[in-house]
Amino acid sequence: MTNVINNNYLISKKARDAVADVLGYEIEKLQIKPVSGGYSRNRRSVVGRDDTWVFVKEVDTTLLPNGGKEEKWWLKKDNLCVGALNKIAPEFVPEWSRLELGGHVLIMPAYIKEDGWLWQLPKYIKLQNKYIEAVLNVTKKLETVNFKDSEIKKMQLQTYFRDKIGYDEGFDQIIKSKTVRNKLLEKFVSLKNEYPESDQLKYDQVIILLNNKNEQKELKNIATNLTKQPNDCFGLCDVRSDNIAYNTNTGQIKLVDWNWASFTPNNFGSTEFLIDMARQGVDIKAWFNSINIELLVTLIGYWLKSCINKPLAPGNNLRDMQAISAANALSIYNLIK
Ligand SMILES: Nc1ncnc2c1ncn2[C@@H]1O[C@H](COP(=O)(O)OP(=O)(O)OP(=O)(O)O)[C@@H](O)[C@H]1O
Ligand SMILES: [Mg+2]
Repeated sequence: MTNVINNNYLISKKARDAVADVLGYEIEKLQIKPVSGGYSRNRRSVVGRDDTWVFVKEVDTTLLPNGGKEEKWWLKKDNLCVGALNKIAPEFVPEWSRLELGGHVLIMPAYIKEDGWLWQLPKYIKLQNKYIEAVLNVTKKLETVNFKDSEIKKMQLQTYFRDKIGYDEGFDQIIKSKTVRNKLLEKFVSLKNEYPESDQLKYDQVIILLNNKNEQKELKNIATNLTKQPNDCFGLCDVRSDNIAYNTNTGQIKLVDWNWASFTPNNFGSTEFLIDMARQGVDIKAWFNSINIELLVTLIGYWLKSCINKPLAPGNNLRDMQAISAANALSIYNLIK
């Protein structure tokens, strides 16, 4: 069997053996299926048979720098968060998760289409609205979740926002460096050639920003205010449709990928989710009041800075996704301001 499908690597034989042990099946009797979505360099598969299926994510030490140290910590944090949240908000997380093979493999229940689960924005507009409302409701409820200080420390729930986004100097770099502006101009001109016509206006808005110092300074000032906001709302910090299982029969939501989970200012989850919805072509005007403007603007600077970094791996499209997200966040800002 080929083990790579559209840059999505299936889990290794070693990991399949571990799963067979957990499920109590012989490895020959297990089926293995690829999954769509995801931007990390982990291997992933849905594995099982009959009515018993699990989702498996594997840190591939051969593919990653540092023996996958960072990715191993992500699996560990994900596993800890799912465990902790199962005691507080079980309806929003997988029922269980466990680490195997010395922490290289994370296993959890599989949420598959045969059981009504969807991992993307529904196609029908009416269902789209229900989906968006359901996700916003979950992000709002999660904001009030609290943990003991010892858990916050153990799961490192107080670093992601502060270090990665709040004090990011994306706009400073754009303002100061012609090289950065030129790299970005090149990136967005090439996106205009590669991606659908409907998005062109959004890329044009970035190109206009890159040529306008006053606009860059205005955005920088708004972004600076973000760190003054209270940083006490819990969230997944990666709310995009490929991290959300939506049950079209029951309306239930399960969030996965807790490795970025953190305390943040309010409406972080709804803001990043609505940017993702805009990126996928949804008109999000009806939900503008769920957007944190300072955060929206900070994310523009953060993604612009990130999108010109080196690709994670050949064929990995994270950098394009960041550029497109920046363009969508900017187009939302231009509508709201
Ligand atoms: N429990 C699950 N059951 C079924 N499919 C799943 C499950 N968890 C994830 N998937 C599928 O795998 C895809 C990627 O999963 P996941 O987001 O966990 O990967 P990842 O490697 O962590 O990527 P990233 O960190 O970039 O988000 C999801 O979009 C979904 O299609
Ligand atoms: Mg993911």
